Amino acid sequence: MAEPNRRSAAVPNDLEAFWVPYTPNRAFKRAPRLIARAKDMHYYTPEGRAVLDGTAGLWCTNAGHNRAPIVEAIKRQAEELDYAPAFQFAHPKSFELASRIAALAPADLDRVFFCNSGSEAVDTALKIALAYHNVRGQASRTRLIGRERGYHGVGFGGISVGGIVSNRKHFGALLAGVDHLPATYNREHQAFTKGEPDWGAHLADDLERLVALHDASTIAAVIVEPMAGSTGVLPPPKGYLERLRAICDRHGILLIFDEVITGFGRLGHAFAAERYGVTPDMITFAKGITSGAVPMGGVIAREGIYDAFMRGPEHVAELFHGYTYSAHPLACAAGLATLDLYRDEKLFERAKALEPRFADAAMSLKSVPGVLDIRTVGLTAGIDLASRPDAFGKRAYEAMERGFHDEGVMIRITGETLALTPPLIVSEAQIGEIFDKVARVIKAVM
Ligand SMILES: Cc1ncc(COP(=O)(O)O)c(C=O)c1O
Repeated sequence: MAEPNRRSAAVPNDLEAFWVPYTPNRAFKRAPRLIARAKDMHYYTPEGRAVLDGTAGLWCTNAGHNRAPIVEAIKRQAEELDYAPAFQFAHPKSFELASRIAALAPADLDRVFFCNSGSEAVDTALKIALAYHNVRGQASRTRLIGRERGYHGVGFGGISVGGIVSNRKHFGALLAGVDHLPATYNREHQAFTKGEPDWGAHLADDLERLVALHDASTIAAVIVEPMAGSTGVLPPPKGYLERLRAICDRHGILLIFDEVITGFGRLGHAFAAERYGVTPDMITFAKGITSGAVPMGGVIAREGIYDAFMRGPEHVAELFHGYTYSAHPLACAAGLATLDLYRDEKLFERAKALEPRFADAAMSLKSVPGVLDIRTVGLTAGIDLASRPDAFGKRAYEAMERGFHDEGVMIRITGETLALTPPLIVSEAQIGEIFDKVARVIKAVM
């Protein structure tokens, strides 16, 4: 196992000033995992050691790292226009990018509101849902429904509808009037399924129970990740999303798909909505829109939602919401170049074509001791490990450390689950390499 690295010339100082997010700071600062450079499928440490990126950064660098067309577009934009006010003014690329995103989104999901992250996208979508009912004279629709094990970022809206206990328990009472659907995962019925499990569509019917409890006239929206990513890769059961859509339609409830992870090719389509043939009322996106190169997020809304706001005096903003950096010029330039790359290199189609190979490679770890379940969908796999007694999450943490320091592979962890979600440019040989390394890592931590 790697030793603390503080004496390395590459470590800039005692590391104390930076409070590292979502990271055990004391352990990290004893043995930091520093990344100085990246290209295509690899990260490089300050010492120049290559680390194969099994996670597309944080599920975001779908086009691979430091791709020349994206880098060039950002450079050109920085020279041309650094910033334009996001309110009352706009720059041309924001309209261009919105049209390109609308063209990729299904049906009449044609209006795009920009922000800077997935968390902001979620809070924006929840606010639009509340305001939409309000402007239509249904102001009693204030309840928001999320799902257990859901992850919707870290804003107060997102953690309220989210369902991961550690993200909620220290932060007070959260938003009032939120309820949750049950999680869709059941190991007994679903273990070692490739793609969407057969069991579990009926869990969508729990929404009828919530409607009966609260009354539809009080419910504004339901938000779910089509594939729950951050909780450990939970593909939706076959038929589940269709059922959720039907129940929402029956009761006039908006359906929001949080596609911050599933957007831009992760599941072999521009959006998971397309893969599942289910059209939500809003889609949240972030991450893959710029392949992680510049922060950007947004909400795609159905035309009818936007239209409902287009009333009142014409000199007054229709929606009192926005961010200083909404549709930032650098992000728009990066987004346009990224969408060009996805199109020109057919990366969504590539993800779809590689899915069976990826699933087979992941499932080859089924017999590794300590592996309790493996789930795959698109270019994504979740591998559940048996916990050490009284130390939930420690084995996965050690796997991540060992992967980085000893095997040269980046692994994402959540609880006791390893998530593998490489950039969509991953080659078949690299898929094999990722899972060979992960198998060695798991054996080493058992
Ligand atoms: C589904 C989902 N929603 C929202 C977010 C939050 O995005 P961000 O970290 O950009 O705020 C994430 C991040 O992983 C996510 O997976």
